[in-house]
Amino acid sequence: MNRRQFVTSSLAAAGATLLGSDAHIAAADQIPGSVPSSAVQQARFPEGFLWGTATAAYQVEGAWKEDGKGESIWDKFTHTVGKVKGGTTGDVACDQYNLCAQDMALAKRLNQKSYRFSISWPRVQPSGTGAPNVKGMDHYSRLVDVMLENGVRPFCTIYHWDLPQALEDRGGWPNRDLASYYADYAGILAKYLGDRVTVWAPFNMPWSFTYMGYGVGTFPPCRAHFGDFLKAAHTVTLAQAEALRSIKAASSKATVGSAYGMCPAYPKTDSEADRAAAARYHAMNNVFFLEAAMKGHYPKAFVGEPPYELMGFKPGDEKIMHAPLDWVGFHYYTRRIVSDASNAHAFGGGSFGGTEIEIDPAGGRDPYTRFRAVMPTEGPLTESGLEVWPRGIYDLVTQISREYDHPIIEITESGCGYLDAPYDKENGRVPDARRIEFFREELAELARAIADGARVRAFHAWSLIDNFEWANGHTERYGLIYVDYRDQKRTIKDSGFWYGRVSASNRLDV
Ligand code: BGC
Repeated sequence: MNRRQFVTSSLAAAGATLLGSDAHIAAADQIPGSVPSSAVQQARFPEGFLWGTATAAYQVEGAWKEDGKGESIWDKFTHTVGKVKGGTTGDVACDQYNLCAQDMALAKRLNQKSYRFSISWPRVQPSGTGAPNVKGMDHYSRLVDVMLENGVRPFCTIYHWDLPQALEDRGGWPNRDLASYYADYAGILAKYLGDRVTVWAPFNMPWSFTYMGYGVGTFPPCRAHFGDFLKAAHTVTLAQAEALRSIKAASSKATVGSAYGMCPAYPKTDSEADRAAAARYHAMNNVFFLEAAMKGHYPKAFVGEPPYELMGFKPGDEKIMHAPLDWVGFHYYTRRIVSDASNAHAFGGGSFGGTEIEIDPAGGRDPYTRFRAVMPTEGPLTESGLEVWPRGIYDLVTQISREYDHPIIEITESGCGYLDAPYDKENGRVPDARRIEFFREELAELARAIADGARVRAFHAWSLIDNFEWANGHTERYGLIYVDYRDQKRTIKDSGFWYGRVSASNRLDV
């Protein structure tokens, strides 16, 4: 057994107290990719740094058909037998629709300054277009008020994957008309909430939901055609820009950024071909939508010319998609090693195990981007199966800073899935030392990026509470607060208390 296997297996076997012991921390220093404890002790965050957490409507709200809400593609997916591990649904989830006052009081207790929530489109427009559902809007208005009462900044994600089923029935995201429906919806939100919400992100992880939903079909609406993915992605680019304009027209206080999913990409070898492949990965998976908004064109994601025809690109689209963001938001969970697949003959879609893992086939992902991207397992894995690689956040943040002329950055999500539960021998506390360790090391690397000049103003841990983890149902837990789904009881985990102290002191050795 090597040292890493030893640490991992002792972690799994050890009791709560041992997990947090110095012995574990000393051993952790030997783990590939881990950050020395001196860096953790020295790390400082600037005064006024916005410590926050993030959630998404479908994952926490429940109330799936209350007060006039329409069906979403995720309602339909989870109600289809065989789609979700454990057969659970988001029908009730964390019942935050009814428990939002309690959850925001918990956020305050953990000294939180920002809460990134998303709005369910079919709650606002049950069939995706037309007049807003007043009861749905009232809910979000209440949620925003309760955040402000607790001193928490509302950060609104307009779309976190729950498309109204009625719009999927009209062709879904590959249908270009959705760009203007979406801009209308965003304008409604800004009209009703824009007096209190000033921070807006149009889409959560646009590459993921277009690729998983239309390219390979593992997420709803379960369509699998690369051309549909490209069309969907192009509609989303247009929608992002149209929404920025409609939000700003409805609210003079609005600032618009993003919540992109990103993984730093490292070439597998130093060959020119692998370095070019890693650059294509970065262009396709990380900055496709960012570059479009900032510069009005797509980055070089493809070998050769972009397949404009397949994308449904029309003359003049460059002008529509150009809508520079006020700040740049992105998530960091894990990294990728990328190699060239220019000469591969067999291409395949790849699949998802968890939201972030993409297991590419031996050849390459597709005939246009022609790369192969894999998640390495050099560092330890979380229980959800993602490699822990703290340095990745430093590399990603400094890369985006360099490439986009030092924008204001918000980390919109980062977190880890571990299943720790209340422990009766410790009076019911939740000793999740591995999550504390994950954040401690990653945040030390983020502090280093800030010290080196990156203008990062916020960090949102995924997630405030355990929640419905998409196709993995309740088999993964990412929260700083434990949720017992039998009675909705919330229990702050050790990591939650720790994060609360970090938020109050701007340091990590707390
Ligand atoms: C998604 C969340 C998801 C989390 C953990 C993120 O990329 O935005 O919805 O729960 O990953 O898998």
